[in-house]
Amino acid sequence: MTIHPEDARIAEARLKQLHQRIGGIAYGGDYNPEQWPRDVWLEDAKLMQQAGVNLVTLAVFSWSRLETRDNVFDFDWLDDVMDLMHEHGIGVDLATPDAVPPAWLVEQHPDIMPERPDGSIFGFGSRQHFDVSHPVYRAKSLALAEKMGERYANHPALRMWHVGNEYGPVSYGPWAEKAFREWLQKKYASLDELNQAWSTTVWGQIYSDWNQVRVPAQPRTWSNPSRRLDFHRFTSDSMLEHFKAERDILRRHSPDLPIVTNFMRFYKTNDYWGWAAEEDAAALDIYPDPREEDAHIAAALNFDLMRSLRHGQPWMVMEQATGAVSQWSVNVSKAPGKMRLGSYQAISQGADAILFFQWRQAKGGTERYHSAMVNHAGPNTRIFREVCQLGNELKSLSDLTGTRSTAKVAIVFDWDCWWALELGNSPRSDLNYPQEVLRFYRPLFEANITVDFVNANSDLSAYSLVIMPASYLLTDSSAARFENYVSGGGRLVVSYLSGIVDQDNTIRLGGYPGALRNVLGAWSEEMHPLAEADERIKLTTPDGGTSSASYWTEHLHAETAEILASYSSGRLSGLPAATRNSFGLGTAMYLSARVDDGLLTQLLDDELRAAGVQPELNAPGGVQARRRTGTTADGAAASFLMVLNHNDAPSSVDVLDGGTDRLSGRRVSGVVELPANGVLILDENLGRGKV
Ligand code: GLA
Repeated sequence: MTIHPEDARIAEARLKQLHQRIGGIAYGGDYNPEQWPRDVWLEDAKLMQQAGVNLVTLAVFSWSRLETRDNVFDFDWLDDVMDLMHEHGIGVDLATPDAVPPAWLVEQHPDIMPERPDGSIFGFGSRQHFDVSHPVYRAKSLALAEKMGERYANHPALRMWHVGNEYGPVSYGPWAEKAFREWLQKKYASLDELNQAWSTTVWGQIYSDWNQVRVPAQPRTWSNPSRRLDFHRFTSDSMLEHFKAERDILRRHSPDLPIVTNFMRFYKTNDYWGWAAEEDAAALDIYPDPREEDAHIAAALNFDLMRSLRHGQPWMVMEQATGAVSQWSVNVSKAPGKMRLGSYQAISQGADAILFFQWRQAKGGTERYHSAMVNHAGPNTRIFREVCQLGNELKSLSDLTGTRSTAKVAIVFDWDCWWALELGNSPRSDLNYPQEVLRFYRPLFEANITVDFVNANSDLSAYSLVIMPASYLLTDSSAARFENYVSGGGRLVVSYLSGIVDQDNTIRLGGYPGALRNVLGAWSEEMHPLAEADERIKLTTPDGGTSSASYWTEHLHAETAEILASYSSGRLSGLPAATRNSFGLGTAMYLSARVDDGLLTQLLDDELRAAGVQPELNAPGGVQARRRTGTTADGAAASFLMVLNHNDAPSSVDVLDGGTDRLSGRRVSGVVELPANGVLILDENLGRGKV
């Protein structure tokens, strides 16, 4: 899915207007005043001002408070909250509450509840309890969106719209089944075509009538992988269709306001490339687990993905926690300084909005232990002080909004690959696609190389190096795109399990990786996953160096490719393990094994050097450096180097020429000591005589 340049321009204009109206970077969070008596609302508004809040998300879960019975509406309380926000200079991101169909609606239409693959039905009492294909659910949620659009489009507090919440429930019920069949009838010209695409001659599954085509509900045992892949695609499309229907209603009322929904990190159900193209900005809910030492690396990957989904356009942290969450077995609070650091990390990677779930910590309900900007204890807390500090710092950084990062390296992250790869009945069913991507992302992150993500259909012309970790499914046209990229001078790095299947999830014959065999100048005749988790195969490099492989190996033949490493133990001993092929003006590397981190880093370093890619800054481990550039409102060149210390101890960093630190106002250059969790935002033009 590509974004038309005119659509991108209009979305950027909407965002620019948003940031101008709220005074720069958006700061605030989900606000659920219906959970509190009115006297708390006024205190909330005052505390919000104190904290520098300029945007709150209202009504995300308010359907049953807005439509109290069928066609009986109560908007008065929301009118009052909107007015109160306006009086206090706080903008509103107003949500359509379609994530929580009310109890009365479910009572009238119990089949709104989604069905699991085994035929069991969700119980009422949580949220996202809808089958998005249900006609009454659709009609009722669209009608409510229409009413909200009519009522609030011209309210002076309204700054943007937020459709639904974390779209995601998958249903295998009768309404989904009907919609799936219709989706298939649009995709396939005939039932013969479907039979062909799904390889239904295997295990005698040939369909002779469309009515026989069902959702892939729980089979006795394994079931058809092409059908399940199509069901993944259908599920993402059907939810997106509903998002678009609500968006179009709101757009009629508010042509100039941004409209978004919130994404979840590494969320498999929805193809966010297709989704982001339909929104004004990508918006992320991110809850890194403070127990994980490397949580900031997984967060970084998500942030870069968000920035890439709309081709570099600034994106939004729509939700994060100030302290602890409440969904894990042990919910550890973020250490002092980590919330601020994580927020600046998102900004350094292109975010122009830092929002939280939620403003005030609930005293009842499921998430009563999830931290908030104002916790149970009230404002006299460490967390509220940190919230105020950050909110007030951000006020002076408005000129960062709209600036962008530039990457010369791209990694492929593609939902079709993800879905097809993890369907099971393959040589390895324990493969985790995001983890495969993370293995390649990590050394680049650690070297402070800015990385974009692309999908298998993206334009690659901006990149000097493109990496394909387990890009399992490639269509003919995407395979040709990668081949052309290399022949035109690009450098490609391909890992095992790439280019194996076509768009129907059927194997490409004639040697793996079928779709890329030509460009790689190498092919593999058999896959050899390693049975034991601790199994290591020795590898030898032509200069006599040794390293190892684990998890995955292949019986590889080099044709025109040079050999970069060979297997030197086990049944593949003597055969090539990693190769590089010159093809046209470029090169394509193939890793047939999961090589150890040392060799991976070395091979990637070689590629980066050959591609002429430089780090943003050479910095010690745990120190992240990112750059945002662009033009300021008065047309001058802007360049901000952000340096973030993720370590729990001080780190010395040579910032070279540096710049003026926008947080302290100090001119900074050469070797500086960054405190634990410290942040520098170096304005590279200010104080260096460039502007
Ligand atoms: C999600 C939801 C929020 C809240 C948070 C915290 O991101 O969108 O409503 O539940 O998680 O768990």
